[in-house]
Amino acid sequence: MIGNVYQAAGGEDTFRLLVQRFYARVADDALLRPLYPEEDLSNAAERLTLFLIQYWGGPSTYNEQRGHPRLRIRHQPFAIGQDERDAWLGHMTAAVDSLNLSPALRKALVDYFETASTAMINMRTAQP
Ligand code: HEM
Repeated sequence: MIGNVYQAAGGEDTFRLLVQRFYARVADDALLRPLYPEEDLSNAAERLTLFLIQYWGGPSTYNEQRGHPRLRIRHQPFAIGQDERDAWLGHMTAAVDSLNLSPALRKALVDYFETASTAMINMRTAQP
């Protein structure tokens, strides 16, 4: 369907904008914001930006700076239940939608974020 999502979506600028908009929302979220250890979210934003650029077929700067992503392990210190996952995905979906990408690109990104965010759940919460 799509050769290289990174290029088709507009390259580095698109992923920088996506993560900027995502973290602007996280900064105002009373559930998620306390999970982030640093007062300044810009380092976290830079790591996520470089990770996504690499994941979608752009330069592998993330691996050069951080090594293998091992995202499940890196998220272990943070308690992520269904509510945290839903909040994270909600902000990310809104950020993706703000980019006005083609439907195919939008779907590729949102499908991935749905699966990846579910995989990051590491805390059991009561089901309704
Ligand atoms: C499910 C809800 C999620 C929550 C609550 C969450 C929360 C966090 C927190 C608190 C950090 C540490 C911030 C920092 O680096 O200073 C972090 C790091 C990170 N997260 Fe998430 N995250 C979630 C899902 C995801 C997903 C789905 C991805 C990828 C698609 C992702 C990618 C990353 C990356 C790349 C880092 C930096 C890793 C590193 O190099 O140290 N996160 N996340």
